[in-house]
Amino acid sequence: MPRTILVTSALPYANGPLHFGHIIEAVQTDIWVRFQKLRGNSCLYVCAEDTHGTPIMIRAQQDGITPEQLIAASASAHARDYAGFLIGFDHFHSTHSAENRSYTDALYTVLRDKGVITRRSVRQSYDEQAGMFLPDRYVRGTCPRCNTPDQYGDSCESCGATYSPADLKDALSTVTGTTPVLRDSDHLFFKLGDFETMLRDWLTRSGLQESVKAKLGEWFESGLKDWDISRDAPYFGFEIPDAPGKYFYVWFDAPIGYIGAFAALAAKRGLDFDSYWRSETQTELHHFIGKDISYFHTLFWPAVLFGAGMRRPTGVHVHGFLTVDGQKMSKSRGTFITAQRYLELLPPEPLRYYFAAKLTGGVEDIDLNLEDFTARVNSDIVGKLVNIASRCAPFIERAGGHLADSLPEHALFLEFTAVRERIAQLYENRDTAAAIREVMQLADRANQYVDHQKPWQVAKDPARMEEARAIATQGINLFRVLLMYLAPVLPKITQAAASWLGATAFASWDDVEAPLLGTAIGKYPQLASRVDPAVVKQLVASPATIAAAPAVAAQAATGKPAAAAPAAPVKTQEPGMIGMEDFAKLDLRAAKVIEAARVEGSDKLLQLKLDLGDHQRQVFSGISASYAPEQLVGRFVVVIANLAPRKMRFGVSEGMVLCASAPGSGVFLLSADTGVQPGMKIS
Ligand code: MSP
Ligand code: ZN
Repeated sequence: MPRTILVTSALPYANGPLHFGHIIEAVQTDIWVRFQKLRGNSCLYVCAEDTHGTPIMIRAQQDGITPEQLIAASASAHARDYAGFLIGFDHFHSTHSAENRSYTDALYTVLRDKGVITRRSVRQSYDEQAGMFLPDRYVRGTCPRCNTPDQYGDSCESCGATYSPADLKDALSTVTGTTPVLRDSDHLFFKLGDFETMLRDWLTRSGLQESVKAKLGEWFESGLKDWDISRDAPYFGFEIPDAPGKYFYVWFDAPIGYIGAFAALAAKRGLDFDSYWRSETQTELHHFIGKDISYFHTLFWPAVLFGAGMRRPTGVHVHGFLTVDGQKMSKSRGTFITAQRYLELLPPEPLRYYFAAKLTGGVEDIDLNLEDFTARVNSDIVGKLVNIASRCAPFIERAGGHLADSLPEHALFLEFTAVRERIAQLYENRDTAAAIREVMQLADRANQYVDHQKPWQVAKDPARMEEARAIATQGINLFRVLLMYLAPVLPKITQAAASWLGATAFASWDDVEAPLLGTAIGKYPQLASRVDPAVVKQLVASPATIAAAPAVAAQAATGKPAAAAPAAPVKTQEPGMIGMEDFAKLDLRAAKVIEAARVEGSDKLLQLKLDLGDHQRQVFSGISASYAPEQLVGRFVVVIANLAPRKMRFGVSEGMVLCASAPGSGVFLLSADTGVQPGMKIS
């Protein structure tokens, strides 16, 4: 019986770009979904923007735009990046939507009427100037234990102490820089403890990973506390129906966003809501998440669903954190790799493959080692997998483009199809690392077969063309079985191979049992190419380029320069800061390099001729140690256009080209996104 499955990835926050952490999760989920579809199950995949909360409200203020504008800009950037990585959502929604509001209200009302919501007063830091309560992260001060300055309101990065913002010495609000006061306010709480028995039972029956169960056990031991689900205005979110001026905490409405996203899809496709959300037997519900948010998904979420009379998840699948070259991704080290950055440089499938080869279905952290990435994908995808096809294809073409009518070594073919169920089981358990290991062992076998049979030698004898065709037919059939096994990971390569071997060649998992024989095949397409290690190095960008990104995002959101939008005074001007009027004095422009040359008598300078749209200029720039002149012609740079001309030994320099650098790093020119034209103003 085919299964009916609904799958989700965690909803990305709408205040930042997608990075490799989001992508590994989306890739893991997408592979599982594609696998289910290939197995003939009905499988729907939904996700959404997570749009509410203080950080989004403050970020929009800082950028001088409305939260709606911020989340719209984020949604389109996220959609572009997910599509770039071939993530096949059936629907991508938003938590700031009519559907989500209506389910959030509805679930809350049932919980309240059941008596599992209680109200009590909470004392919290309050910023009088901004007129708002401050989340712990928005208060900074000196650690009460070790006296390290500038620590967050909830914990010290230096000594690890945890405390409340009221314990901090010299506490300041990061919103206005003023000293917060303590203020009381009523909050609404969800009585999580009422659900302990239910949760203990659910956890034994749901297929949670052992370490996730162990963590839950610890949480039970330390006691299930009431969960504060309300926040005071000003807050960007949904107002609580019976508590004016109070809003649902973002983590209350975010998982309900899974329901909202499904409801929007259900309306489009005419799906039966109740069989997905009110029955635990008719359908399955699977959430894919990172380990940092398992508390929300394995305690609060099943309890909220159960309390509101809804079904609980069938599975919550937790993955570990992605590290880059052994370390936490970090903006300052330049290892915070965004999805967009990667897609500017490389195609999606090598990364999908690498992540799949690393994911075991466990919760351990996963390391992306850039050298290993290059070596692994070049060796596996190009050197092993695609190699089988590209070596065999010419002998079919020479023999008229038809596959032979039978396989010379049927037993070998059967060895390949025999592991079908085992590999399916590995995918089912999300152990894609093991699935890929099996497939690559078989790829070695297939290559050995071609090596031994030497079709290129056989084909030298015109009388043995048939034999060469048979060998190639065998090789291509082995390749087809292996690519079928990797189809969930490599959808584009699979599609290209399908247009070569026939549209139905990869239609379903069980089809591999029957070899492709006697049929005409197309002209062999290039299925994959090698990843260039020099390009991979560029993934690790200069930190300055990354730090500059938010302003650009804000501009995209409003369609006008961020500086021109109504500025909300969110920070008081501290010494060393400049105001908007100072910034506005800089005339920064995008320019295109039209000529570049070394300067005789200088080992530092390059002489650049720049196109600024309506005129050209000469600029001398000290970048000769980091760039060859030939590299620069045609690329975009950022110039200060109103810098007073300076007479140098070699000529007059009319402006300055902006670079990022760090001690000992060399310099990095800032670059422009596609679409930028010479002369555009940068703000
Ligand atoms: N908005 C919440 C989720 C709400 S779900 C109802 C959130 N958003 S997030 O953008 O911070 O993270 C989205 C997902 O990406 C989470 O599952 C998180 O664990 C995952 N990752 C974020 N950084 C990660 C890594 N460095 N590595 C792997 N996954 C990581 O949390
Ligand atoms: Zn400390």
